[in-house]
Amino acid sequence: ASNQMWGGRFADGPDAIMEAINASIGFDKRMAAQDIAGSRAHAAMLGATGILEPSDVEAIREGLLTVLSEIDEGRFAFSTALEDIHMNVEARLKEIIGEPAGRLHTARSRNDQVATDFKLWVRDQLDAAEGGLIALIQALLEQAEAGADWVMPGFTHLQTAQPVTWGHHMMAYVEMFGRDLSRMRDARARMNTSPLGAAALAGTSFPIDRQMTAEALGFDAPAANSLDAVSDRDFALEFLGAASICGVHLSRFAEELVIWSSAQFRFVTLSDRFSTGSSIMPQKKNPDAAELIRAKVGRIFGANAALTMVMKGLPLTYSKDMQEDKEQVFDAADTLMLSLAAMVGMVADMTVNRDALAAAASSGFSTATDLADWLVRELCLPFREAHHITGTLVALAERKGCDLPQLSLEDMTSVHAGITAEVFDVLGVENSVNSRTSYGGTAPVQVRAQIARWKEMIA
Ligand code: ARG
Repeated sequence: ASNQMWGGRFADGPDAIMEAINASIGFDKRMAAQDIAGSRAHAAMLGATGILEPSDVEAIREGLLTVLSEIDEGRFAFSTALEDIHMNVEARLKEIIGEPAGRLHTARSRNDQVATDFKLWVRDQLDAAEGGLIALIQALLEQAEAGADWVMPGFTHLQTAQPVTWGHHMMAYVEMFGRDLSRMRDARARMNTSPLGAAALAGTSFPIDRQMTAEALGFDAPAANSLDAVSDRDFALEFLGAASICGVHLSRFAEELVIWSSAQFRFVTLSDRFSTGSSIMPQKKNPDAAELIRAKVGRIFGANAALTMVMKGLPLTYSKDMQEDKEQVFDAADTLMLSLAAMVGMVADMTVNRDALAAAASSGFSTATDLADWLVRELCLPFREAHHITGTLVALAERKGCDLPQLSLEDMTSVHAGITAEVFDVLGVENSVNSRTSYGGTAPVQVRAQIARWKEMIA
């Protein structure tokens, strides 16, 4: 049998393989609500501009609502022969309302239709990502507030560097996820123009009102160039880009949770609700959620790379290649939302082992920089010389099997005669973090100021 949409031109129906490679209904049925919203806006506009009779518009409106409820209630029979969501909805509409259904596609093409549907879908995901990121930032703010002055080691090269506060470390992630949030908002603002009315590619000779459909669908304006409107997918690429960067942040934090929850670190204890056990080793409590979040950025970035490859080199305007946009974006969006939700749960639930943080903070010569700074400040030594003296003292402490505060004054003066007992005041970790009051520094007073700033911004 020939096709019901373009049967006029065709004598024969498609080969089964053709149908299999061509059909997108298996996945684009996820855009059913967006498709029907777009059609409703289009039909209302066709009525308002006098292109369609009010009675036809009313029949289309009611019919589309019936189709929507059939889909929502799982009573809709999706057909592969009908290719995609657009033709499935229209064919069912025709069964329900008859002849007026055939008028809905006036001044429209599947090209502007699919671009509109997909934009609406991606826009919802940008909003969902925003919600997930806000929830994560709130969970991090709570952790930061609880431990604004808890001392822990700060690392470079994963080697003990200088003492920092737990709150400061949490707030570093707040900054990262805050940028992700602003990237999602930027993407939303930039993508929010309506392709509807671009028709196949060149616009239409019907007196349509693109402003009206744009407004009805929550777009800021109609897209200004019809060729661009049907061939643009950079809204999807931008979402995938923002999602990839967010995935990188999630992955780095997940990696820290894996390290921190190990028996060697014991910085945090993950809740039972967000851990798994071992089938053979009874003692095990594994950070599987963190590991999976660490991995899932691979899928998100994979989608980003895949859609970039699909789009590169496509001539204007629409090519069927672009049907390959959806599965990638669907999977990436699902993956991102699940990762965000799992991270929120883990962060909200985890217990921080303050004592383990403190013990780790004062090992590994973490206050060596404080000692060097003291030599500069009190003895007016050039920093490079102070660095060398401190290094010599660290080596001495290492030989004696102790940390810097346990060296005697005699040890100190053997390396530099000018050192006095006051030096011991700066070798404690509390003193170290409290002294770093520069803007953005780790001192609890600075950390609390940043927490307050973020709470205000998020509220
Ligand atoms: N299923 C198609 C897609 O996802 C809809 C657009 C079809 N347009 C066309 N000219 N064949 O891209």
